[in-house]
Amino acid sequence: MVSLTADKIIGVIGAGTMGAGIAQVAAAAGHRVKLFDTAPGAATSGIDNIRTGLARQVARGKMSDAEAAALVARIEPHEAMEALADASFIIEAIVESLEIKQKVFAGLEDICSDDVILATNTSSISVTAIGAGLKRPWNLVGMHFFNPAPVMKLVEVISGVATDPKIAACVYETALAWGKNPVHAKSTPGFIVNRVARPFYTEAMRVFQEGGADIPTIDAIARESGGFRMGPFELMDLIGNDVNYAVSESVFNAFYQDPRFKPAVVQLEYVNAGFLGRKSGRGFYDYSEQAVAAVPSNADSGFKPGRISIYGELGVCEPLRNQFANAGIEIDAKPTSGDSCIEIEGVMVRLTDGRTATQVSAQSDNPNVVLFDLALDYSNAQRIAICASDQADAASLDKAIGLFKAIGKQVSVIDDIPGMVVMRTLCALANEGADAVNQQVCNAEAVDTAMRDGVNYPQGPLAWADHIGLVYIEQVLKNLLYTYGEDRYRVSPLLQRKVYGGGRFIDGA
Ligand code: NAI
Repeated sequence: MVSLTADKIIGVIGAGTMGAGIAQVAAAAGHRVKLFDTAPGAATSGIDNIRTGLARQVARGKMSDAEAAALVARIEPHEAMEALADASFIIEAIVESLEIKQKVFAGLEDICSDDVILATNTSSISVTAIGAGLKRPWNLVGMHFFNPAPVMKLVEVISGVATDPKIAACVYETALAWGKNPVHAKSTPGFIVNRVARPFYTEAMRVFQEGGADIPTIDAIARESGGFRMGPFELMDLIGNDVNYAVSESVFNAFYQDPRFKPAVVQLEYVNAGFLGRKSGRGFYDYSEQAVAAVPSNADSGFKPGRISIYGELGVCEPLRNQFANAGIEIDAKPTSGDSCIEIEGVMVRLTDGRTATQVSAQSDNPNVVLFDLALDYSNAQRIAICASDQADAASLDKAIGLFKAIGKQVSVIDDIPGMVVMRTLCALANEGADAVNQQVCNAEAVDTAMRDGVNYPQGPLAWADHIGLVYIEQVLKNLLYTYGEDRYRVSPLLQRKVYGGGRFIDGA
């Protein structure tokens, strides 16, 4: 099916944050848009907000005055639903209530043609359930934009049980024509983004809850090592702890309390304290004027490495070899029949595999074990997180700090937490993405597109997992499962199958 042509009238219901943004997107694609809101004056002020936003674009030279004026002129404010009777496609972005949404769509069925396409921008309500009250539920699809709608590229096109695939295809093509990167998904709790992203927050909070590292350090590791645009705590403060916690709780309950989605007690405490984030002036961080800037832990050491041994190939960490060499460190390349690692003056330094350093130490003949965390790209990462085994002597950490400082990295020493920060986060994200694919919510490419374009991840979690090696990812998860004994870390059947079959999630990744 092809996209809706630009001559079709688009109706948008609700002129708040999302509705106004969606109206702008449709108008930018050349449609005449009817923006309807029940609150007196809301549609007009929604259009005023669009005009103000566009004026900023004009000031930045992104569009001309005339283009902005023409775009705004295509959007009409309405305070009566009957005005939408001649629309071909109507997108609802009103209050997040099943009952009210059902009522609005039933009202539309009474005034619009039988073939009108109806879409809901709900972020958490089942599209199937919204459609259940309709005479023609096959015409209803989820069209989940991200905030701000004119900027964010992702649109999740969600099919309920009764949705006609041709309608979903048309909405997908229309989203493409509107300059978006749409993905198809089935109506399941959290759809793609709000489901797969859960571990980004909850794993970080677990590390914090277990005293693994303080908040600014976890955020700095996520940004400067993991390549995420914002740290999890900074992002929760921006979203609002209440909103973020509510999403976590609703996904958890919607999946019949699957431990995979268990929210973090620590976040509820912050919500209860009224520490909601930026909007309340205090969240995980203090936003008041007298706040002391939060700084991550930066370790230093007087140790200057002269010579190291590298056993085997370092896999994703291989770029470190060149960096050590360029820093003037002599390298003895040694074969190994076991795990690859770096040895510096008797200290074994290696990438976390989900075991604690203490466990690695107990299982090897070396008490001096230091683990380091996953980085998105070891060449460009500004920071490396490390942790030492309980058995290690005091000099071990010093030597490892000196090693990474010698190649220009900031070093954060964290406690001996299994999977550290980035590794456990990535493994949990990829595991969740794999489960979404396994449960037919969407395909693997959709998971990665959704996470890159919906929440700005530096790489799709499935392609990232492919790059590290699925055998390694599975091992980390199994080690986490062993340590915590929690079903949360059970390995997705699809990930296991890929490991057995030697496959990858994304072809050519
Ligand atoms: P909002 O509160 O900014 O705007 C909602 C608007 O709907 C208000 O102007 C209100 O007067 C109007 N409204 C309420 N009931 C109505 C009715 N029966 N008929 C016509 N207009 C009505 O809300 P926001 O943030 O724009 O969210 C709207 C929807 O989009 C919700 O379903 C929300 O879950 C979803 N969403 C929100 C995102 C966000 O970041 N704010 C992101 C993605 C989806």
